[in-house]
Amino acid sequence: MSSDAVWIIPVFVVLGCLLPSATAHSLILYPSQLARDSRSSCPAPDPNLYYRPVIGIVSHPGDGASGRLTNATGASYIAASYVKLVEAAGARVVPLVYNEPPETLLKKLELVNGVLFTGGWAKTGYYFETVTKIFKKVLEKNDAGDHFPLYAICLGFELILKIVSQDNNILEEFSALSQASTLQFVENANIEGTVFQRFPPELLKKLSIDCLVMQNHRYGISPGKLLNNEKLSSFFEILTTCTDEHDKEYVSTVRSRNYPVTGFQWHPEKNAFEWGPPAIPHTDDAILITQLVANYLVSEARKSLNRPVAQEVLDNLIYNYSPTYCGKAGRGFDEVYIFVPV
Ligand SMILES: *[C@@H]1O[C@H](CO)[C@@H](O)[C@H](O)[C@H]1NC(C)=O
Repeated sequence: MSSDAVWIIPVFVVLGCLLPSATAHSLILYPSQLARDSRSSCPAPDPNLYYRPVIGIVSHPGDGASGRLTNATGASYIAASYVKLVEAAGARVVPLVYNEPPETLLKKLELVNGVLFTGGWAKTGYYFETVTKIFKKVLEKNDAGDHFPLYAICLGFELILKIVSQDNNILEEFSALSQASTLQFVENANIEGTVFQRFPPELLKKLSIDCLVMQNHRYGISPGKLLNNEKLSSFFEILTTCTDEHDKEYVSTVRSRNYPVTGFQWHPEKNAFEWGPPAIPHTDDAILITQLVANYLVSEARKSLNRPVAQEVLDNLIYNYSPTYCGKAGRGFDEVYIFVPV
């Protein structure tokens, strides 16, 4: 029966194409009519959401390849894996080059619907100042009624810990370089309204058993230190923790209590998009994690009220730059976007 049903439709459509209109029975719909009908019956997507979201990614000092690509003064880079993470979920990227004139950066912030802080090593200086300014702007936008999400990944998370605590010595040292780990959900973690909300239950279970997320950090914060810090514990809620090589526990995923801000001590972008370090997990489950994490950021960005001028967005998209392949050395990032001041 079911195979008959499969065949009836194509035959009917082919006949419909061949029959001259005069001979067509009034009950027979031509394919063109079918198409028109199905178009008009498509329900409009939710008008409150924005389906052309753009994410700003802040560039990090250096070339991302230890000087193999450029030693130019003022050079900065974005590993292409962060760009692909955003693109994989249906958004485009505007690079926020950290050492551009502040007016330029502010203008670019008006073109985006959310921001991502990447991993890296720079914790002080002008980079930290830029990240601080942008972080404050993200909170301001949310306070003003826009829904403007932020993903702060690895270094990005460490920096917002510094900013929120207003304590430059808040970070602790851990041994978690280039290794995969599990994620342990804290007791009574409420994942509703968090990055984990659309993770299938089986995947949530596997996260605490299988090493499905990539770690690459020397710094972080222990759950005790975060919880005992009034500023941090009133801003952040801990979702998951991990343990390092010496069984020292660190906070691995947080959400903000009042803002669409998510902090990751791990690297959701690497599973699907980086191939250098052999410890990066690439299983079905691991790739699904990259995709689900990407989806949550972009679904949050679609709630943003910002409707920037289309041409200004096009003029500033990362498509105006070409990534450089630097993974041939078999280590480090596979591709990076480099920004050199002119
Ligand atoms: C950058 O400097 C390092 C160290 O001096 C050197 O090995 C490397 O070749 C330089 N990179 C480029 C692209 O010139």
